[in-house]
Amino acid sequence: MSSTLRVGFVGAGFIANFQLEAIRQIRNMEVAGVTSRTPAHAEALGAQARESGIGAGRVYGSIGEMAHAVDAIALYAPNYLRVAMMEEIVAAVNDGAALKGVICEKPLGRNVAEARRLVELADAANLHTAYFENQLFMKPLRTQRAQLAPQMRAMGPPSLVRSSEEHGGPHEAWFWDPTRQGGGVLSDMGCHSIAVGWYALTPLDKPPLFLEPVSVTAEVALLKWGLPQWRAVLQEQFGIDYAQTPAEDFATGVITYRNPESGQLVKAQFTNSWMFEKQGLRLLMDGMGPGYAFEVNTLASSLQVFIGDAAADAIADAEKALEKSTASRGLLTVHHNEADLYGYTDENADAAEAFLAGRDAMLDWRYGLEITRLVTAAYMSAEQGRTVDLTDAAVQHELESYVPLIQQGRGREVLHVVEA
Ligand SMILES: NC(=O)c1ccc[n+]([C@@H]2O[C@H](COP(=O)([O-])OP(=O)(O)OC[C@H]3O[C@@H](n4cnc5c(N)ncnc54)[C@H](O)[C@@H]3O)[C@@H](O)[C@H]2O)c1
Repeated sequence: MSSTLRVGFVGAGFIANFQLEAIRQIRNMEVAGVTSRTPAHAEALGAQARESGIGAGRVYGSIGEMAHAVDAIALYAPNYLRVAMMEEIVAAVNDGAALKGVICEKPLGRNVAEARRLVELADAANLHTAYFENQLFMKPLRTQRAQLAPQMRAMGPPSLVRSSEEHGGPHEAWFWDPTRQGGGVLSDMGCHSIAVGWYALTPLDKPPLFLEPVSVTAEVALLKWGLPQWRAVLQEQFGIDYAQTPAEDFATGVITYRNPESGQLVKAQFTNSWMFEKQGLRLLMDGMGPGYAFEVNTLASSLQVFIGDAAADAIADAEKALEKSTASRGLLTVHHNEADLYGYTDENADAAEAFLAGRDAMLDWRYGLEITRLVTAAYMSAEQGRTVDLTDAAVQHELESYVPLIQQGRGREVLHVVEA
């Protein structure tokens, strides 16, 4: 059995480059190929793979062509392309491509129907799957579970977790377009924080879907980017009109889970925003059980630098210091290894090990589908102004075809847009 999984990247943008940095740090994966709508970016990424000694990084003209030359395909392209890309992969498999598995970045789908279609397509082609939810692989999150294992065993599992991911807003126009991305910050980053809450509440030694979701209560709002002066920034920078098709820049909610063995009810609160006015990306997670607690704050780095006004002209690329950095002077947080901190290294190692052994990754697409269901239920709750009962068969049925108003481009019906 080969000890290295040869992966082909679809997309050569922001996350593809982050993943390349992660793969440089592990042993069982190679960047064998790349295909992208922007060939120059694909060429640059391929060259970087070769220079780093982590694969041939050959550029292909299509997914179908690349599928015949790699062991696995990783979907690192925008959300609205998932189904069409997966259909192309299935066609290649039917045409003889010997793929072991397929990796998909979050979110698996913009809604439940799309995510379910992805699961069906992977099943039809007999492909193993990995749903890339990097935050579950974050070493701080894993380490607190290992460190608190004796307390969890003696006192019982955690009963409350709060998880948030926030920054000042995404880097590409399609993220701001709710019809292409799937919504606003709840679709984009709520999926991370909801997954973290579920996982951190899960008793030790139990699988990620062990706790049963019972109910979701959520709110969404447009607090910053709907104001006239900020709408003008979006219009100028990305050609996006939030007066016509707004999406939420703030989302929060509570999900209740039931332990099927003990009957205990536990809760996870999530908060996400694209209007975070601090140094850059912040992941904040805390949780507690009887007599113990943990807290993770990614803005509390062991490295800080200070750049005064007199020296500010000579600043290095601020985003090299921290993802979504918003400042280049003053006291700045610097991370020496964000790819590892956020869990990208370990999610790649897990997927490679799983596919090489002929099984799904720790988080498969069925898990991704469940996360999409919870995100969709959160939109439903916010739109309808009520708690969504996930144990109700009628609600479960409704969620299967539910497309949130914001995703339909009808955000004006649920979000407050200040007239100019
Ligand atoms: N896990 C995380 O923290 C995280 C962070 C960022 C993005 N993501 C996810 O990764 C995915 C990509 O996001 P991104 O930030 O890299 O976006 P991006 O816009 O920076 O890059 C997208 C890439 O896909 C390529 N592309 C577009 N259309 C294509 C097509 N038809 N065929 C082939 N390639 C095409 C683009 O040219 C570009 O190279 C999204 O699903 C996003 O949700 C995850």
